[in-house]
Amino acid sequence: MSKKNQISYNCHACGFVCSKWSGRCPNCDEWGSLEELKNDKVLEVIDQKKLVNFEKFDFTEKNIENLKNQQSQRISTCIRELDCVLGGGFVRGSVVLIGGEPGIGKSTLLLQIAQVISAKNLQSFYVSGEESSMQVRLRAARLREIANANLNLLSSTSLEEIVSSISNICLGKSLDKNKVDLLIIDSIQTISSEKISSSTGSIAQVKLCTNELVELAKSQNIITIIVGHITKDGAIAGPKFLEHMVDAVLYFEGEQNYRILRSVKNRYGASGEIAIFEMNDNGLQEITNPSMFFLNSYNRNISGSVVFAGIEGSRPVMVEIQALIAHSYTPMPRRAAVGLDLNRVSIILAVLSSRCKIITSDKEVYLNVVGGLKLNDPSADLAVAASLLSMFYNKAISEKTIIFGEIGLAGEVRRVQNVAKRIKEAIKLGFRKVIMPDQEISEEIKDIKLINLVKIKYLTQLNKVLENNIVEN
Ligand code: TYD
Ligand code: MG
Repeated sequence: MSKKNQISYNCHACGFVCSKWSGRCPNCDEWGSLEELKNDKVLEVIDQKKLVNFEKFDFTEKNIENLKNQQSQRISTCIRELDCVLGGGFVRGSVVLIGGEPGIGKSTLLLQIAQVISAKNLQSFYVSGEESSMQVRLRAARLREIANANLNLLSSTSLEEIVSSISNICLGKSLDKNKVDLLIIDSIQTISSEKISSSTGSIAQVKLCTNELVELAKSQNIITIIVGHITKDGAIAGPKFLEHMVDAVLYFEGEQNYRILRSVKNRYGASGEIAIFEMNDNGLQEITNPSMFFLNSYNRNISGSVVFAGIEGSRPVMVEIQALIAHSYTPMPRRAAVGLDLNRVSIILAVLSSRCKIITSDKEVYLNVVGGLKLNDPSADLAVAASLLSMFYNKAISEKTIIFGEIGLAGEVRRVQNVAKRIKEAIKLGFRKVIMPDQEISEEIKDIKLINLVKIKYLTQLNKVLENNIVEN
């Protein structure tokens, strides 16, 4: 077989390419995800693209000095938390990808965004490939009684139809309003192009459709929001390329009736920022004080429960970490962690066992971050260790205590960033004791006298503090 006609198989979950078909992807273990990808089909698509005439580019015009006065225009969403995640609002011409599990509230949030943007006299277009326009209309009415001439709904799964109708509006060929400010695509996996024969939702389709939408956004200066489905591992379906193609990537996560929107990539702002929303009968309502929210149901004076002072994006957030050590009935005791990296938890357990002689190898260990927040921050190590020790000795840590610090393999407690921010937030919320690494606080804190700083160098010191129950109840 010539190389051109050679068939390869592409996994639509992770993008892995292999030469032999199998029922299960060898890379991500997803069943039934491999589909045929003929190399010549891909080439056909590439051939169709017109080559750009490079001679017309003049790089002196693009000099960074000449561009410095051209500010990118931001459009506020009037939802303070969302603006914060976006780095101050949407930038015109930017493409934002939102991922999240089914039913988490992506469509609801986007409809709310479309409503506030269109209420500002800006033209919004909500394209749904999943619901009919009537369904979207009913949902919009449920969120907010709308009578908005600037919010336009389109139910379509054809990329060509979407691109041509938006281009026509921009060129003034249809509608009297020849402007598109916001375009929402819900969702990219339901949209397909006739240019290639791959099935809807396949890698090739998602790639092509995203590419065309990014081109449309950049050429017409349209804010484009694309919804992406996620795989069972929580990544946006389709490999990382989708995240590379867009300007910002937001993930929606959460439990029960609250939702956390997290930016994992943002070309126009800081990544790692979070916004917290509560889902109620009128859609998503923002929660402006995350720390108060997470400590709402804090289990005071119960062993195994501690408060960690973390940093999410640029803001301090206090969360409760709970530990449970239970008798095991199996030779391989279970270890489970919700909201924490299990590898990190294993390291902390190993350090506790070898440096502090806290042996838990014959016991089951469970850890939980209350509120559904996912902590990837190593500065939570000390709080995790404290909750384990508190549970181990069955001694409660004072409810007015916050803890943070990273733990090294030698049992040392390492310095962390943003100490002043954490302490200031703790004082604001009425905490009176801080267990932290032995480091200087770079910034001056006004009410520092109100707080008792317990600086520790080695994990063994924390062990002693808890063993002797020096942390009063
Ligand atoms: P939806 O936005 O459709 O989720 P996604 O697009 O991410 O799949 O969210 C639907 C869920 O939200 C559904 O379980 C009902 C709930 N919901 C409310 O609780 N209140 C509301 O006002 C709306 C519109 C939805
Ligand atoms: Mg939806």
